[in-house]
Amino acid sequence: MNIQENISLKKHNTFGIDAKASRFTSIESVSELREIIVNEANIFILSGGSNLLLTKDLDSLVLHINTKGIDIIEETNTHVFVKAQAGENWHEFVLWCIEHNFGGLENLSLIPGNVGTSPIQNIGAYGVEIKDTFHKLKAIEIATGNRKIFDASECNFGYRNSVFKNELKGKYIITSVIFKLTKKNHNLNYSYGAIQSELEKRKVLNPTIKDISDCVIDIRNSKLPNPKEIGNSGSFFKNPVISISKFQELKNKHQTIPSYKISKTEVKVPAGWLIEQCGFKGKRFGDAGVHSKQSLVLVNYGNATGQEIYALAQNIQKKVSSTFGIPLEIEVNII
Ligand code: EPU
Repeated sequence: MNIQENISLKKHNTFGIDAKASRFTSIESVSELREIIVNEANIFILSGGSNLLLTKDLDSLVLHINTKGIDIIEETNTHVFVKAQAGENWHEFVLWCIEHNFGGLENLSLIPGNVGTSPIQNIGAYGVEIKDTFHKLKAIEIATGNRKIFDASECNFGYRNSVFKNELKGKYIITSVIFKLTKKNHNLNYSYGAIQSELEKRKVLNPTIKDISDCVIDIRNSKLPNPKEIGNSGSFFKNPVISISKFQELKNKHQTIPSYKISKTEVKVPAGWLIEQCGFKGKRFGDAGVHSKQSLVLVNYGNATGQEIYALAQNIQKKVSSTFGIPLEIEVNII
């Protein structure tokens, strides 16, 4: 094991925050990982670094999970079970599935991050979440080094949520994830307006999974900043869920407020709209800012500190709360 000391984590988090790790090592195998966690009391797990905001230096041994491998572990006439190691880049994994004509993950193209962290916040986009194709995951319990397999019900998936953000937060390290994907008769989901208009623009009548992926890639590139160019962590907040009665009350005052019905009693309101209405869209405060095309995304123009980004997030929360009476919940992990 090669441990580096006092290294910058700037290139290991998509926000590009220049926080330091007192010790850092890259993990290439599950056995190496088990050996370290039983011997080290103070560890910090770093995956793709795409869903975290570092507001301080880390005084622990940072384990950068870099395990690789994609394997077909079982096949039927119609489905395939594919296992990907935690350190595989999410988008490269999605492209691998599309190349092999395995359907189910195409709407999740271009989401930053790695396979191992995808179940933690049940990543989702354009009408699909990973819970829809998730089969099982393998993990290691940090306290004991014991292996455990979780099925979907044990993960308790919700909107940008799972057991790993709640009861089991910080207790397990996910080492691989198995997805159940279609080999034929793909269950395409292009109900989302932006995908439909992109398909129409391209005059595609009978889309393939590759067509859907190509559309999603173009939509994301047109709206969301590329972390390689401008530091960011995707959506910084969750879209709030409010009661229909609260929504009606707001609609009387703000006629254009958008919403998505999620049950008989509740609707989801796009946080991006609320933030834009509060005047933050495209605003810059030093090197911390709100993206000009999607207000849900906070950005680092270069040298913002995690604390500056966090202070901006808190200002946004205050203003949205005083204007609309809606608390905005942060989706990114604040460290
Ligand atoms: N909107 C505005 N102003 C903005 C941004 C959005 O008015 O600055 C309104 C518009 O009415 C727009 C609506 O919000 O039609 C929805 O916007 P968008 O389609 O961009 O989706 P979102 O609800 O803002 C969610 C996810 C994204 C995901 C998209 C597409 C969350 C927290 N975010 O955003 O996920 O890509 O839907 O499915 O649920 C991520 O998690 O990092 C992420 C990017």
